[in-house]
Formats: sequence, structure tokens, C-alpha cells
Amino acid sequence: MTKIGVFDSGIGGLSVLNEALRQLPGHEYVYLADSSNTPYGERPSEWVANRSLKLCSWLIEEQSCEAIVVACNTATAQAIAMIRDHFQSTPIIGVEPGIKPAAALSPNKKIGVLATQSTLSSEKFKRLLESLVGDCQFITQAGLGLVPLIEKGNLNAPELEELITKYVQTFVDFGADTLVLGCTHYPFLIPMIQKKFGNQLQVIDTSSAIIKQLARKILVVPSQQTTRVKLFTTGDAQLILDQTNHLIGCQNPNTQLEAVSV
Ligand code: SIN
Repeated sequence: MTKIGVFDSGIGGLSVLNEALRQLPGHEYVYLADSSNTPYGERPSEWVANRSLKLCSWLIEEQSCEAIVVACNTATAQAIAMIRDHFQSTPIIGVEPGIKPAAALSPNKKIGVLATQSTLSSEKFKRLLESLVGDCQFITQAGLGLVPLIEKGNLNAPELEELITKYVQTFVDFGADTLVLGCTHYPFLIPMIQKKFGNQLQVIDTSSAIIKQLARKILVVPSQQTTRVKLFTTGDAQLILDQTNHLIGCQNPNTQLEAVSV
């Protein structure tokens, strides 16, 4: 059993944790949501980098996590190099917009990328995009306002539907056939996107690939072993427990779930 730390600005990283519970049961997961500081996407890059390093240090030094998943695209874009430099003996897995798989899968090579302003303007993302612009045409859109609405937990809220429809429509108008979700909060909107746009766009979510990367770094354990999930939040413990049950429903009898405010 490996103790794995997962952190995000809030509940977005639960989409990645969900995939970890599915692919890699039998481990101990420590999920840290920086709920009192969400969203990160419009904050200064230096702030995001320093905060991410602090959260990661807490997971490794206070919680003894042996591997870390930075389950936040903004934190990965702004801080992963610094975190890896700081904790060289701990596997640190980051998330990045899946534009490489999108480029491979898009039939017409027109791709929409939805991510936070901070991710889109980061050097890491610019380099990734530049490596593929010869083969594909990209249109990027900052998902301004989406994360605070998702954090409220009502994924059917009319204002959320209005906003995501407006953003995805810009990709459709551009002629994109593939949509990259470059923020871990956004996969929770896939049912809404599919309801509005049907099969007009294939949606790329990289959670599964990220957990495959994690699996290569840790020992895989027999699946009947109990999975432990401890949720920590800088906000309200009851709220994150309710949101986790609502969003990823840890109903597996082998999964123990508890939440604590820090
Ligand atoms: C945010 O906190 O604004 C979004 C986090 C992410 O980029 O995944």
C-alpha cells in the first residue's frame, strides 16, 4: 500500500481521485483541497507556485505521502518544475491539457482548448502548443467564472449551463471537432456539454492517462485490500465530504472516507 497525496485548488482534483480509486484501489489517498483559496486560475503565477509548493510540502512532510498527484492544471503549469526540484526522491505526477492526444485523435485537426487564464498564459502550455501548431489549428478559451460555479456544487445550475454553452459554442463556430478540457474541474461538465452539443465534439479528459503514469511509479496492490481516502480542506470539512459523495460517490464498501479541516 502506498500513501498518495492528491491536491487541487478545490474539488476539481476529485475527477482525478475518482480515476485513481477506479484504477488503483487498495492504497491510502490523502486529498487536500485548498477550498479557502479557490480558484487559482486568475491568481498571479508566483502566488500559485508558492502556494502549491507549500501544499505539496505539507503532504510529504506532515502526512508522509510517498507520491504526489498535482491534480490541478494551474498548479502544474506554474509549479511542477519547482516542486520536482524540491522533492527529487518523491514521484510527482502533474496534469496538463491533453492536446497531444487531441492532435492524434482529431479528424479535421481543429482543436478547442478550455483552461484557466493562468494555464493558457503559462510558458509550459505555450511550449506544448508550439510543439503541435504545425499539424493542427488550435483555439483557446479561458473558462472564466466556471470554477467558482462548479465549486458551488450544483452542476445543473442555469448560469453554469449558460457559461459553458457560450465557451463551447466558440469552438464549434471555429469548426473544432475536438475539445480539450484543461482544468480538472471541467470533466464534471461533460454530461452538460454532451447534452448541449451531442457528438459535435469529442472531449479529451486526461485523468485516466495521469493515473496510468502514477501506476508506473508505485507498487500495485491486490484489489481486495481496503482503500482509505482522507479528505483535508482549508475550508469546510462537511462540505467537501458531501461534495465528494455527490460527485464521485465513494460507495465501494472497501473505501473508507473521512474529512478534516486544516
Ligand atoms: C482553478 O482553481 O482556477 C482551476 C484549477 C485547475 O486549473 O485545474
